Amino acid sequence: MRKIMLLGGPGSGKGTQAQILQEEYKIPQISTGDIIRAAIKAQTPLGQKFQTYSNKGKLVPDKLVVALVEERMKEPDVAQGWILDGFPRTIKQAKALDTMLKRRKEALEGVILLQVPEEILFERLTGRRTCSVCKQTFHTKFKPAPEHGCTDGGPHILEHRKDDSPEVVPVRLEAFQHETAPLIDYYKAQGKLHLVEGDQSMEQVRAQFKQLMGD
Ligand code: AP5
Ligand code: MG
Repeated sequence: MRKIMLLGGPGSGKGTQAQILQEEYKIPQISTGDIIRAAIKAQTPLGQKFQTYSNKGKLVPDKLVVALVEERMKEPDVAQGWILDGFPRTIKQAKALDTMLKRRKEALEGVILLQVPEEILFERLTGRRTCSVCKQTFHTKFKPAPEHGCTDGGPHILEHRKDDSPEVVPVRLEAFQHETAPLIDYYKAQGKLHLVEGDQSMEQVRAQFKQLMGD
């Protein structure tokens, strides 16, 4: 599989695994969360709109996200495949993706669901740190950032995402249960759903992905 979507709750490991797959298979990770955060950081007009949703843990409106993905899929690096990370997130978005791919005469080959219990998600999110320079993701307990090793061997500049606070995480978990979890049945009905036990070490999760992706 080279045209895939990663489905899973907040903190389930979508970004961590997508970054590994991107390196291994030379296909781009398309993370709507990353695109949205970049727009917020740049304080573009769209970014200012996004932050009213994202910083509170709410989903941004379907129409805006679909437009972002349409734009991203026009880049030449998607020719050999792509890893959708965090999109689609509602049935409306999934239907829009189906239409978009049909128009492009291509198809989603598989959806990988990362299953992780909620109490573990909470610990993963509140301990997550991201380097603002090299964009690598770390965890205070599960994957501490080395003192050096950022671009040019310098120190990492670690940031804590605004929506990873103990107040906002429950809102995101709720959004997943209510708005995103219905996609599980949606893709099961299409015969595209694959399950991965996400409550294992990063290496063990990676091995499960490798098996699913094939050579
Ligand atoms: P987004 O950025 O997509 O956030 P999310 O889905 O909530 O997922 P996360 O990025 O928090 O988690 P992840 O699964 O990538 O986990 P990670 O690998 O980092 O979206 C953010 C916001 O943007 C949304 O709330 C919404 O406002 C907006 N948005 C985005 N897309 C949208 C859409 N399509 N529609 C509408 N709105 C949208 O891992 C987490 C931590 O755990 C890390 O510290 C990592 O080191 C650690 N970890 C990972 N794997 C393991 C492991 N196996 N064992 C131990 N620790 C692990
Ligand atoms: Mg992520």
